[in-house]
Amino acid sequence: MQFGIFRITPLRKLSALLMASALLFSLVLHSSAGISDEKNSVPPPTQLPGQPALLVGVAWYPEQWPESRWEEDLKLMEAAHIRAVRIAEFAWSAMEPTEAYLEFEWLDRAIALAAKHHIISIVGTPTAAPPAWLTFKYPETLRVEVNGQRVQHGGRAHGSPTSPKYREFCRRIAEQMAKHYGHNPNVVGWQIDNEYGYALMSYDEGTRKQFQDWLKEKFKTVENLNAHWTAAYWSQSYDNWSEIPIPQQGANPGLMLEWKNFITYSWTSYQQTQIDAIRASAEPRQFITGNFMGWFDGFDHYGITKPLTFVSWDDYVGSGHFDPDWNGLMHDLMRGLKRENFWVIETQPSNVNWTPLNNSLNKGEVRARAWQAIAHGADYIGYWQWRSALNGQEQYHGALIGQDGQPVPVYDEVAMLGREFDQLSDALRGTRVQSEVALLHSYPSRWAIDWQKHTNRYDQGAILKSYYRVLRKQTDSLDVISPDAPLAQYRLVAAPDLNLISEATAKHLSEYVHNGGHLVLGPRSAMKDEFNALLPHTQPGFLAEALGAHVEQYYALEKNVPLAGAWGAGESSLWAERIKATAPNVEVLLRFGISNGWLDDQAAAVTRKFGKGRITYIGAVLDEKTMAAAAEWMAKDAGLTSSLTPAPAGVEISRRVANGREVYLAVNATSELKTLQLPRTMKLLLSQTEASRVELPAYGVEVISNVQH
Ligand code: GLA
Repeated sequence: MQFGIFRITPLRKLSALLMASALLFSLVLHSSAGISDEKNSVPPPTQLPGQPALLVGVAWYPEQWPESRWEEDLKLMEAAHIRAVRIAEFAWSAMEPTEAYLEFEWLDRAIALAAKHHIISIVGTPTAAPPAWLTFKYPETLRVEVNGQRVQHGGRAHGSPTSPKYREFCRRIAEQMAKHYGHNPNVVGWQIDNEYGYALMSYDEGTRKQFQDWLKEKFKTVENLNAHWTAAYWSQSYDNWSEIPIPQQGANPGLMLEWKNFITYSWTSYQQTQIDAIRASAEPRQFITGNFMGWFDGFDHYGITKPLTFVSWDDYVGSGHFDPDWNGLMHDLMRGLKRENFWVIETQPSNVNWTPLNNSLNKGEVRARAWQAIAHGADYIGYWQWRSALNGQEQYHGALIGQDGQPVPVYDEVAMLGREFDQLSDALRGTRVQSEVALLHSYPSRWAIDWQKHTNRYDQGAILKSYYRVLRKQTDSLDVISPDAPLAQYRLVAAPDLNLISEATAKHLSEYVHNGGHLVLGPRSAMKDEFNALLPHTQPGFLAEALGAHVEQYYALEKNVPLAGAWGAGESSLWAERIKATAPNVEVLLRFGISNGWLDDQAAAVTRKFGKGRITYIGAVLDEKTMAAAAEWMAKDAGLTSSLTPAPAGVEISRRVANGREVYLAVNATSELKTLQLPRTMKLLLSQTEASRVELPAYGVEVISNVQH
């Protein structure tokens, strides 16, 4: 991991008083409505035929070790119930040591030896690390940085996604690998590239020309482009496509957005070149996935993940400890990309090596995090990595095997997890997450706000999490999805800071409300269109009519502003929007108190029944208590039927379902003992017992199902 892109929140302060809190939770059985029957009838693509439904895997790099060591490694993996290796994703120089000379024999032997130990292989295409012969002979394959310098060989992600020459080399190696492994029974699937070069681009003239051609295809005429970008401003009007630059920070917002869209297009077509090369030879049973990075927003993930069989991501805490809210939110975001189960193809077994403080996770935390991922729809947990290379840039990264080749302490914890996955695979087979609540998330909106925060403390991740934390407590699971995804299954849809809402998306959202849903919009909603231009209407743009109200003015706040109303008395931080009701049946939920004069006694949150549903607008960044009261109100209004809440603080309960069969997962994310009171005697699948009370020790986990009569 190169960038500190993951947000880290310290573990909650734990109260000793909560240690034995035994909170009753009411169990309400849901029907399987929500996931279409069609989807329910096929197993998730993340659960592989002939394999346990849940798998532990590792990133294994046989090319870094003498072959005489391999069997010892594989024996240790097998003993830990590790059932998969991801392999070869940086091994280009070992597979093609000189141009067009391929050596797959070593990899054949590694895959066969793994199979001997009942370990399947996921093969990575090695295009994140082109070999030195390639980059030296064909320097045009290397990216050019913003400052005009070509990237040097010796790191990774140095290949240019827009270089036709590099694309051709990538296609060829993927094609050769697919011809070779596309029918190998021990190869279950493919990972394309690794992390897609952190979405880095090449700032060379060829790329600029591709960008201009892409703009031409999209806008057809420069006049049209000029109009959408209001290019008359500062004499930006273009006469020819060839005048359009690659934007630097602080460029026209329309140009900035299209450059981002072009980045998405470039990496998606880079990916497609390899998908096509693999699909031409590989058996259809072999899946194709990519390795994504949670909150990372270098490109629009909804587009790039479309052609993949399923989404995988690498889940790192970095510094600090398990934050179940943030981590849960990230799993849900990744699950929402394809609205399907996913894999955690990489995660840290102890510590990373790329943050200011690379502390280890506590004993038990690795297992708890793995089970939380399963609870949120993962079916595979892959540890990065099996053993650190003796040299190379990541010598200090956590691994399962030490530099002496012996297991390190966390190996036993992973072995325990492996045993548990084997034990519980049947219970979780065919199950998915099925939610009644969704949060809407959009990459263009995120980019647009981050480019013009207006107050530098405006943190969209924190705001999304503030909604997530309180709403997740009202329900067993929550989806994080694109605003354009189907919404009919949800009783409640909340969209904090959805800044760009096109007319088409607004129509989709108002139809959802019209048909009986409850849509909650947060601050900064619907200011702009899909070209990142301000709408010629006040917020919430095309939704103002449904709301029967609009934002008269927004304010970046110097200090918190008091507010009070239906959700009690509290504060707005960072941002405040003065709302004016225009329709008679608009209910004011919150009003601002005395502050800058403009906001005094003005509406801060309003709601209105519209069609068969309801639309609410919250023009404030609410404090935790008010946000919690708002969530309770939303849950009540939407008639949410949460099965397993309230749980003791720090314990997260989730539900996976398959055709009416329900499995609940309880994860104690704290280092304190917690007690969970069940509404009746239920099956505790990990403890292999029946009980009406669950004791969860520090980082304890239980998987619970109904007793079958
Ligand atoms: C990323 C990469 C891995 C490795 C890990 C280290 O996720 O995919 O190759 O560098 O980070 O944390």
